[in-house]
Amino acid sequence: MAFSRRMRVAAIGAALACTALITPTVAAAAPTYRDASAPIPDRVEDLLSRMSLQDKIGQMTQAERAAADPQTAASASLGSILSGGGSAPEPNTAEAWADMYDEYQRAATATPLGIPLIYGVDAVHGHNNVHGATIFPHNIGLGAANDPQLTEDIGRATAEEISGTGIDWDFAPCLCVARNDRWGRTYESFGETPERPTANATAIDGLQGEALNAPGSVLATAKHYVGDGGTTGGDDQGNTEIDEQELRRIHLPPFQEAINRGVGSVMISYSSWNGLKLHAHSYLINDVLKGELGFQGFVISDYDAIDQIDGQLGFTAEEVATAINSGLDMIMVPNDWRKFTELLRGEVENGHVPMSRIDDANRRILTKKFELGLFENPYTDRQFTGTVGSPEHRALARDAVRKSQVLLKNEGGVLPLAKDGGKLFVAGKNADDIGNQSGGWTISWQGESGPITPGTTILQGIRDAAKGTEVTYDRYGQGIDSSYRAAIAVVGETPYAEGQGDRPSGMGLDQEDLATLKKLEDSGVPVIAVTVSGRPLDIAEHLPRWDALLASWLPGTEGAGVADVLFGDHNPTATLPMTWMTSADQQPINDGDGQKPLFPYGFGLTY
Ligand code: BGC
Repeated sequence: MAFSRRMRVAAIGAALACTALITPTVAAAAPTYRDASAPIPDRVEDLLSRMSLQDKIGQMTQAERAAADPQTAASASLGSILSGGGSAPEPNTAEAWADMYDEYQRAATATPLGIPLIYGVDAVHGHNNVHGATIFPHNIGLGAANDPQLTEDIGRATAEEISGTGIDWDFAPCLCVARNDRWGRTYESFGETPERPTANATAIDGLQGEALNAPGSVLATAKHYVGDGGTTGGDDQGNTEIDEQELRRIHLPPFQEAINRGVGSVMISYSSWNGLKLHAHSYLINDVLKGELGFQGFVISDYDAIDQIDGQLGFTAEEVATAINSGLDMIMVPNDWRKFTELLRGEVENGHVPMSRIDDANRRILTKKFELGLFENPYTDRQFTGTVGSPEHRALARDAVRKSQVLLKNEGGVLPLAKDGGKLFVAGKNADDIGNQSGGWTISWQGESGPITPGTTILQGIRDAAKGTEVTYDRYGQGIDSSYRAAIAVVGETPYAEGQGDRPSGMGLDQEDLATLKKLEDSGVPVIAVTVSGRPLDIAEHLPRWDALLASWLPGTEGAGVADVLFGDHNPTATLPMTWMTSADQQPINDGDGQKPLFPYGFGLTY
């Protein structure tokens, strides 16, 4: 591909030189859109004037990498490619990602207009699809830390790792306000009230940097607009049944903040508001988001979400027209992208979608491509490839872990533990498992138990911190006896992501955890429970038998940060970003609703 592009350029150059001899004035002008010194609006208009309807529809189409290889994407003039959760090149290394990305750009820029692609990923807690990347705590932990500068720094580190693999666009931060902990995406939320999600919209500054075309900057996405965390029953992709005043009071403020911070894209929620799918919600997108809030970037659909507008399987021309007319600028149609382009073309030709809407969508998308500097620098900035999983980024992640641990109980000051003397017992299915402590959206979409990527498990962190102590580990608690000075049980949830993480019934510990805990409790030594989970758990009935409780959330690859708190290298500072239920039947339970929680919103002990 590189070869043929160079050949084309050489041939054009020779022809121009030849023409120059005869008519010097004709040769001079390169198109305005190629002139990096021209104002971006002029470049956009110039490019738009050269584009066919097919080119414009292509810009509005985003396919999954597995469904469009570089040549196919280029010949169909696709504007964007994504990697869905877990969709990675083989081998899954930073270099292979960069090579793959460059292939796409080589093909795209070799087309007649040479419009570069924009490539998007879900780097929602670090560049989490890439093996060896730094995995930061999920948002619920950052909400507990509630340190906007820390969140910005993590955004910056994540942007560097993303840039090192070529990618230009992150489908993050999730600015959802999770109201019902039954929702499987609760951990993607910075908190249950608008304050913490709004405060931590600083992630956008970190991701987008000082300028979109500055080294190591990527486009950010505020998602999922709007009300995704407010569905009845915490049902993922469900229906948010609240009046407009409450929608504006609870769910809108983080998006307003994101726009103030110049977020480049907004992703629409799968959910409905009072029965109407957001993807068909012209009022909320055209009037509120683009009109009232003045959002100037582009609006992206969620994955296959236009298909859900009419509730029937398979999207129709009507759904396509509805989505575009409702204000969506780019559609994530991972596999059926060809059908989408054909249907949209038909809807433009029959007048159902006005050409002005197509042009507006293109202006918004192309403006971001120009701002990102993609026309000048379409290829991976390899100076950042070595930052993927770097010691500096892992140190930042460890700092975030220690700042996100919420101490909920500490009877008789059992914590912090001494680093020397006596013996410590560690148990529980989440003590020695990188996959479990990282949660969903890690290497694969739903996440997975086991050594899925390099990192430090919580057990390893404990061993490293307590070098002067004998540490015994048994996952199931076998072998515990009264000779230990304390027992640490690292229990909780195993990985899940959207959909599969919904908990319409129980929200407690599983049988394995309960059996493990019972062994420790029966031994008579002080029990320190550490919960690794994407939400508060229904544990009130067990709490009296534990001397300490530390909510660890989903810390990611740097488990040493948990040990930093257990052994007092960090005095706990985090507080609950979600009200902690007394029992699951209280859900939804939120600050100020009059229900009696086990621990209130904002609670957190210190030493
Ligand atoms: C999720 C989004 C994500 C998209 C692309 C969807 O299923 O809802 O949060 O950005 O997939 O992977």
